[in-house]
Amino acid sequence: MSEKVSVLIPEEKVQQRVAELGAQISRDYEGRTITMICVLKGGVVFMCDLAKKITVPVTMDFMSVSSYGGGTSSSGIVKIVKDLDQSIEGKDVLIVEDIIDSGRTLSYLLQIFKKRKPNSIRLCTLLDKPERRVVPDVNVEYSGFQIPDNFVVGFGLDYDQRYRNLPYIGVISFDDEDAR
Ligand code: IMP
Ligand code: MG
Repeated sequence: MSEKVSVLIPEEKVQQRVAELGAQISRDYEGRTITMICVLKGGVVFMCDLAKKITVPVTMDFMSVSSYGGGTSSSGIVKIVKDLDQSIEGKDVLIVEDIIDSGRTLSYLLQIFKKRKPNSIRLCTLLDKPERRVVPDVNVEYSGFQIPDNFVVGFGLDYDQRYRNLPYIGVISFDDEDAR
């Protein structure tokens, strides 16, 4: 079985949108410092590129979670594998994610972060699959692209840990569909 990746959003479009989001975030946070929190590993490529387009002061911290069950959808039970290094109390937190699918991961993260008393907390995601949402109360302030329900890779997103380094967003397909 071999996999094929076809381009869904080309590199230039991704970069253009990242620049737009960076400009918008810079305006919204004028005079403040943003505590950017990356959800590893998928969010890391987007967060690094986005941070470079933000003109207000920024700090970065990283969180690693795993959702039980594996496969291509999350189970809703989220485990913290690596917590933040710094306190977020009184900070203006921007959570940066690669993609919001069911919304379960972010819904869980929001719950635990809110208990830590940040000054504010907002979500920024590169991709959003609104059709797949099962947790409706996840409010996303900054969203790069809404995409249909395809499994995508690239720009941080993986299939079986691969393809994170692709500079574009691609859709993965399999030559021998029966072998899946
Ligand atoms: P949620 O909890 O269902 O919103 O899951 C979000 C997480 O599932 C993302 O942070 C990704 O790590 C992963 N994910 C969801 N859809 C895709 C996809 O199309 N490609 C790669 N990873 C995905
Ligand atoms: Mg992720």
